[in-house]
Amino acid sequence: MINPKLPKIWYGGDYYPEQWDEKTWEEDLRLFKLAGIDVVTLGVFAWSLIQPDEETYDFSFLDMMVDKLYQNGIHVCLATPTAAPPHWMTQKYPEVLLVDINGNRKEKGGRANFCPNSEKYRYFARKVAEKLAEHFKDHPAIVLWHVNNEYLNYCYCENCAKKFREWLKKKYGSLEELNKRWYTRFWSQTFTDWEEIPVPTTRSVLFMRKDRYESALPELYLDYRRFMSESMLECFLEEYKAIKKHTPHVPVTTNLIAATFKPWNYFEWGKHMDVVAWDNYPDYREDFSVVALRHSLVRGLKGGKPFVLMEQSPSQASWKWYNPQKRPKVMRLWTYQAIAHGAETAMFFQMRQSKAGVEKFHGAVITHVGNEHTRVFREVAQVGAELKKLGDTLLDSKVVSRSALLFDWESWWALEDSPNPNIDFLYLREVEKYFKALLESGIGVDIISKEEDFKKYDIIVAPALYMIEKETAEKLKDFVSAGGIFLTTTMSGIVDENGHVVLGGYPGLLRELLGLWVEEIDALPPSDANEVVIFGKRYTCRLVFDVIRTTTAKTLGRYEKDYHAGQPCVTVNAYGKGFAYYVGSSVEYALVKDLILHMLRAHNIHPEIEPPEGVEFVKKEKNGRHFYFLLNHSDSKRTVEIPEGLFRDLLTDKEFFGVVELEPKDVVILVKIS
Ligand code: GLA
Ligand code: ZN
Repeated sequence: MINPKLPKIWYGGDYYPEQWDEKTWEEDLRLFKLAGIDVVTLGVFAWSLIQPDEETYDFSFLDMMVDKLYQNGIHVCLATPTAAPPHWMTQKYPEVLLVDINGNRKEKGGRANFCPNSEKYRYFARKVAEKLAEHFKDHPAIVLWHVNNEYLNYCYCENCAKKFREWLKKKYGSLEELNKRWYTRFWSQTFTDWEEIPVPTTRSVLFMRKDRYESALPELYLDYRRFMSESMLECFLEEYKAIKKHTPHVPVTTNLIAATFKPWNYFEWGKHMDVVAWDNYPDYREDFSVVALRHSLVRGLKGGKPFVLMEQSPSQASWKWYNPQKRPKVMRLWTYQAIAHGAETAMFFQMRQSKAGVEKFHGAVITHVGNEHTRVFREVAQVGAELKKLGDTLLDSKVVSRSALLFDWESWWALEDSPNPNIDFLYLREVEKYFKALLESGIGVDIISKEEDFKKYDIIVAPALYMIEKETAEKLKDFVSAGGIFLTTTMSGIVDENGHVVLGGYPGLLRELLGLWVEEIDALPPSDANEVVIFGKRYTCRLVFDVIRTTTAKTLGRYEKDYHAGQPCVTVNAYGKGFAYYVGSSVEYALVKDLILHMLRAHNIHPEIEPPEGVEFVKKEKNGRHFYFLLNHSDSKRTVEIPEGLFRDLLTDKEFFGVVELEPKDVVILVKIS
């Protein structure tokens, strides 16, 4: 549970009373009660309000508001305002602002525009966080600290360059070593002085290829990503420590943007957050499995512990080009999806829709209509009542997963930051396919890092695990030797931690485990497919095509066309007590799904519930009690066969035996009663 002070699933969101007058606050409180709101986030971006100049801190507005809320039974998630440096600061200390990827320094305005390595910025951020914590340390309303807001941008300023060079000196010791690891004899890039080392901008090593920046010195870019991710994490930690000094028992978090967000290695961040929090703004066309993937990744950042859903829109966003409303019942469905995957809060951006400013069209619990007589408000209030009824029943329940997907930021970076055989072969797209198949199989799936204990799982799937160092290769071998089932794909095991290809045939350190070596990687544009024949069926495969030479592996599927015709594309290798599968191309989803189902059958792994198409099944466990979440994401009725026994839905108290009929967008949370 996030804080024992409030032992239920928290319900609320970002609240900006500073934009409104007293009469409106009173109305807000009335409406919050109607909707079952019990936590609001205050203070995000309120820097110029609480620190109007360099010397003055003024908490009077927050004091009044925190008291008022608490008197009305509402707790506070208190934010530090540090995502939006005030104008007095940027005017006097322009170095607090970042320099962008093209080498331009920001001058003013907006948010998420600070340099993570600016001592001045860190000083002001640390200080305002500390003052806030000191001031509110004894206030009973505060249940969570929210540091900054959606850390977003890399900086490329002179100061970051200086810090980067220091970081490199520490990492490599000598220029000689750096030149070796960065392979600088290629294209005459040998560095003879530390000062020559640039940050990777479009004025130095970066160039645009199709729709992304790649680097003429990929090893430098890789290290810069590591350095930037660490720098921004340090920024968070400066505030974290300042707060902890005064309120050691109140958890501290920051709301991570988008979960599968490339710039930050969130597995590293998760280690330093008391509880992980993230903001969920899916595209309305996205498959439910993609959203499930993001929730599962966030849950995986702290080894399966509950997390905070800090933001979702009750209705629509405003920053997208096209901002569809969530259709009736969808907000509720997506809220329970988050809870199924480990969220112990359901928080909105935002409580009241702004009257002006850049986000005035962003959805809110209280819309421009201003009262409770809206569809959005009614739906919000319904969920509020349900969460009240659920109480603490689901708190600290754990997702039960027999499979895991190995996710790796460094592989993602290294694979896409310099030319590889096919620019359309994308890390996330491969990950999404395999995750979807595991989710739909019904056996439960976690997302884990290389550091996680592999032995907890029956199956581990690692799509496009491009970068593999010795330790991970050994861990995977141990996992399979002991009886584990492993699957990996093309573009895995290609490079070591320096980004250097492991010679002797791909996939480097996994050759023995997989019982094969890859001689060539052919690549074609997306329009030119090949086919794989497997399980007596034909499936499409695209983009990259490994030419595989098996040693001990058995061939399951073969290419149908081209110069690879008849050659292996999908293989399996018996290794110790387990099995290692390999898929040598970017295959269509139907094949991924059938292959996963084949693996489950072959190795006697049976799901308790096989969800029909469009229905998501997540099982949770708490003190031996099981919760079966069934979520119908489809637009038609679905019938789900459930295990033997009598079940009750925690939301409606309806009882079920044998099957559950789900209306479109409906959800049930079943517990067995006999
Ligand atoms: C982000 C931010 C919020 C707000 C919302 C709008 O998630 O954290 O401040 O801008 O987007 O969707
Ligand atoms: Zn900088």
